[in-house]
Amino acid sequence: MTCHQVIDTNNPQIKKVAAYYAKGEDIPWQRVYWFYQSAHVWFWHAPHIQAGINCATCHGDMGQQTVAVRKVNLTMGFCLNCHRMKHAPVDCTTCHF
Ligand code: HEC
Ligand code: HEC
Ligand code: HEC
Repeated sequence: MTCHQVIDTNNPQIKKVAAYYAKGEDIPWQRVYWFYQSAHVWFWHAPHIQAGINCATCHGDMGQQTVAVRKVNLTMGFCLNCHRMKHAPVDCTTCHF
């Protein structure tokens, strides 16, 4: 809310954000990137950011989106191709629990 306490405060969407903030509740975001729980995939960003991989590699150019859509299909093959190329781990338990 640092910005939106003063910027665009009459925008109905911003008012929704402000209402959650006032109630101290998390916003129930509609996710765009996720995995079925049954696939037992775990993912975390840190090793990828540390390895210098751009956000756009996995999410497309978000700077060109006003409504977030899933531009990249994050299949197992997509993950594995890069892991093989970059010599990152490829054993099943790297990505599955
Ligand atoms: C190597 C691929 C990869 C890179 C690089 C990556 N992400 Fe992600 N991102 C993912 C995956 C996979 C998920 C879904 C994770 C899950 O459901 O557990 C995700 C989820 C997210 C989400 C939540 C999306 C939603 O629909 O709720 C945000 C926000 C996000 N990433 C932002 C970023 C930003 C910002 C960067 C760059 C600094 C970045 N990501 C770089 C793979 C990546
Ligand atoms: C564009 C390249 C790229 C893509 C795409 C990618 N990864 Fe990675 N991943 C890496 C690199 C590089 C590392 C860091 C390896 C290291 O630090 O030795 C890494 C590390 C990881 C790690 C931590 C491994 C460990 O034991 O330290 C996990 C978990 C992981 N990736 C899961 C995924 C999943 C799941 C996906 C697909 C949604 C994915 N990655 C897609 C390049 C990629
Ligand atoms: C680099 C990460 C990574 C590695 C390593 C990996 N997987 Fe996956 N796997 C994924 C991701 C991500 C998905 C989910 C893809 C999707 O939702 O389209 C997946 C999906 C699957 C599924 C389908 C699950 C379902 O319910 O849809 C199976 C089965 C599977 N993996 C088995 C394996 C086995 C066996 C290994 C080891 C030989 C392995 N995976 C190694 C990332 C990985």
